[in-house]
Amino acid sequence: MSDRKKVSLPMLFDKMTKGTPLTMITCYDYPMAYLVEQAGIDIVLVGDSLGMTMLGFDSTLPVTMDDMIRHAAAVRRGAPNPWLIGDMPYMSYQASDESAVLNAGRFMAQASCDGIKLEGGQEVCSRVRAIVAAGIPVMGHLGLTPQSVSSLGGFRLQGKSGKQAKKIVDDAQALEDAGCMAILLELVPEQVCALITERTKVPIISLGSGPRAHGQLLIFHDMFGLYPRFTPKMAKQFADAGKAIADGLKQYVEEVTTKVFPEPERYFGMKDEEYAELRRLVEQG
Ligand code: KIV
Repeated sequence: MSDRKKVSLPMLFDKMTKGTPLTMITCYDYPMAYLVEQAGIDIVLVGDSLGMTMLGFDSTLPVTMDDMIRHAAAVRRGAPNPWLIGDMPYMSYQASDESAVLNAGRFMAQASCDGIKLEGGQEVCSRVRAIVAAGIPVMGHLGLTPQSVSSLGGFRLQGKSGKQAKKIVDDAQALEDAGCMAILLELVPEQVCALITERTKVPIISLGSGPRAHGQLLIFHDMFGLYPRFTPKMAKQFADAGKAIADGLKQYVEEVTTKVFPEPERYFGMKDEEYAELRRLVEQG
């Protein structure tokens, strides 16, 4: 158990005001959440990226609300103190304000989240207003928004031209006006991130959008060498857990094959007289 204080929204705003960078990470299951809790991370996102990192899909689109709730609840059990955000999966909010509120509410009631995140700018402001009116904090998400990867033309930098970047700046303002408590900027030029950070009154979190935000986010599996398909340029690998596990597995196969494992201290026997009794009973039939 950790002796951390539960992170609250005023604590996040206090850090932002004092210029202390906010730390944010994705997390998807109980054992990793336990480690994240010990590290003292401020904000944990149970991202729909779990469709790729945990479930092996090619995109986030097949992820369902039930998938998200199962993982978010497990993360909360491992990490009781960070500010926990449930990521609204594809088609959980696009259809109507009403479905958006009901699905956002599931994250709060069934997974003990502190808020939700959804993707998009001016086109989702009515959803943001409806969810906020239901008393649920909302984080916005602009730039590379993976649920729209098809219309964005792939996983690539967004807002490269002045005109495209102006749309992102306007979207950030619209999300703030609609009541978002924070905005995530994924893969936009660092100048665009800095400009938005200067202009908004809510925390701006950067994922691959440079240092001039109020906080940083990384995807857990990219940080620890646990996603076999690729590691994006924006991700720094802080340790190679994937290699450590792969080495351990090779050694396990070797030790079982050569009968080194299990060693005598890892299994149990019974008293000789009990074994003799067992043999007698077996022979009797
Ligand atoms: O699903 C997720 O992890 C996300 C991040 C890519 C920001 O939305």
